[in-house]
Amino acid sequence: MSTRISDLVDPVEGRVSARIYADEQIYDVEMERVFGRSWLFLAHESMLPKRGDYITTSMGDDPVVVVNRGDGEVAAFMNQCRHRGMRICRADQGNARAFTCSYHGWVYDLQGNLTQVPHEDDGYLGALDKSQMGALRVPRIANYRGFLFGCWDEKAPSFEDYLGDMAWYFDSFANRYENNEILGAPNRWTIECNWKFPSEQFATDVYHAETSHISALIAQGGDWVTADTKGLQFSSPGGHGTGFYLDDAPDMTDYGPAARQYRAESREREVERLGETRAVHVRGHNTIFPNFSFLIGTNTFRVWHPRGPHQIEVMTWTLGDADAPDEVKDAMRRNALRTFSAGGIFEAEDGENWAEIQDVLKGGRARRSSFDFTMGRGAAGTTEGYPGTTNNIYSEEAGRSFYRRWAQLMEEDQ
Ligand code: FES
Ligand SMILES: [Fe+2]
Repeated sequence: MSTRISDLVDPVEGRVSARIYADEQIYDVEMERVFGRSWLFLAHESMLPKRGDYITTSMGDDPVVVVNRGDGEVAAFMNQCRHRGMRICRADQGNARAFTCSYHGWVYDLQGNLTQVPHEDDGYLGALDKSQMGALRVPRIANYRGFLFGCWDEKAPSFEDYLGDMAWYFDSFANRYENNEILGAPNRWTIECNWKFPSEQFATDVYHAETSHISALIAQGGDWVTADTKGLQFSSPGGHGTGFYLDDAPDMTDYGPAARQYRAESREREVERLGETRAVHVRGHNTIFPNFSFLIGTNTFRVWHPRGPHQIEVMTWTLGDADAPDEVKDAMRRNALRTFSAGGIFEAEDGENWAEIQDVLKGGRARRSSFDFTMGRGAAGTTEGYPGTTNNIYSEEAGRSFYRRWAQLMEEDQ
């Protein structure tokens, strides 16, 4: 690539070139160097309870199939036939004994091995080596508290090392309940924006909420966070980030009386599992680099799948307490729909901002501008009881780390 990444991203000064959100060439390199080397969310194990259960998803912009192999393991492989590149599986999810390509009928088993080929004898004259023609396997899969992540890079660190201090914050979500359950079907839609806008926002940006979401917040219950509400932001050398309030910030949304009561009762169990600090305070916005984000308050998690430099496909799910009564689960599911789904009020407001920025970047002069990430620069430190580097919640600490990690990967040759 002719442009130097260090000319585009300066995480020390806090400047990011607008080009990184709109340039085709940069996009191609980041698919290879960022998405080709990072751990990417595949599925939650509860989505695949039985042998043959599968979902189709993506790693970066590559389609993959994730399937329960029936031997306690999950397989993930490229959703691309080795004959002529057709999708091997065209459904979003289901249960299969094998996957038959709908173009010429090649058949793959639950591990992606090629097992049957029409006219293998009279057409190929027995010369086709099926053992070499399996679907391209995702070589590494990690199961972290039921969350399955995959990585193409054999040399990447283990998922635990990749998470680093972020594990402590992720556990506040992934380990809050004794048993997790995915509530309802996923939401799936597209937004005309670069994948870095939402990933970055969920890592670093509660700043926008007071402006972007203020009407919705008032409509949802009024007395939201005041300007002097204290909070922290965590940043990681791995590019992950999270922000949360230290004061007892009220919930953003109303779950209804039954769910409110159940949540108050289960607070004690949550404190036992996570400790007071995490059970009560670490409940904010989060991104695990590069594109897996979650919100603890409304219990949704999502992947911002890149679809070219100007579009993302969003997939979101609601995580619930499997032991809660149905009424409570339903209240939580509906709350997530109301707030952070395709039609959710906060989600729509965020998407509008991202799509507008992307639209502005159609302008040639606009693409030569740079964006400001200086908030809280030079004020990073540590906070007792909270792992890693921290700063004020109203800072862009995790944003600078996000782009520092991004630039590192973009500059390193394989
Ligand atoms: S493309 Fe799959 S069988 Fe031909
Ligand atoms: Fe938002």
